[in-house]
Amino acid sequence: MNRSRTAVRSPRALVAACVAAAVASLALLYARPGEAQPAQRSTQDGVYTLTQANQGKDVFAGLCQSCHTPTVHAGPPFRNRWFGQTLGDLFGYLRREMPKADPGSLSDEEYALLVAYLMRINGMPTGSKPLAADSAALHRIRIDSIPPTKAPSHPDPRR
Ligand code: HEC
Repeated sequence: MNRSRTAVRSPRALVAACVAAAVASLALLYARPGEAQPAQRSTQDGVYTLTQANQGKDVFAGLCQSCHTPTVHAGPPFRNRWFGQTLGDLFGYLRREMPKADPGSLSDEEYALLVAYLMRINGMPTGSKPLAADSAALHRIRIDSIPPTKAPSHPDPRR
């Protein structure tokens, strides 16, 4: 009795395995290529630390403020130029162009601190993980005023 049941079950298991494999390959076929990419983050997700922003403030005071005060990088001028772009774009711009008299003279870490500082003076929230001085990672963070996934349904009372 036992033997006949095993004999029946095993081809069934084979069929089940085939069906599972077919379903899996169909799923692969229809999966959009973009879905394999790591999710894009926004500057509203808390992508830099307060410590970084404070260090960036010191770098800015020492190397940038002689030509422009921080206020020219906050509010509407910053929004008009940078919203919708990525932190990688901003990082790349600073590395290529700033400080105007000696572009590229800072370390990547210092440029990342400046990016954190610019986020801070534009009201982006701080987080617990530091911003990496890594161009590819920075290109996956969009400069944004509204969180793409968790837009508040009512005004934040803290603002
Ligand atoms: C020698 C003067 C000078 C220094 C020093 C300098 N900048 Fe600039 N910066 C400029 C000028 C001039 C512009 C206008 C754009 C241009 O001409 O390329 C500018 C533009 C910018 C912009 C783009 C403005 C915008 O609309 O968002 C940013 C951001 C910026 N600077 C950041 C920095 C940072 C950060 C530092 C310090 C590492 C720095 N700058 C140091 C002269 C300077």
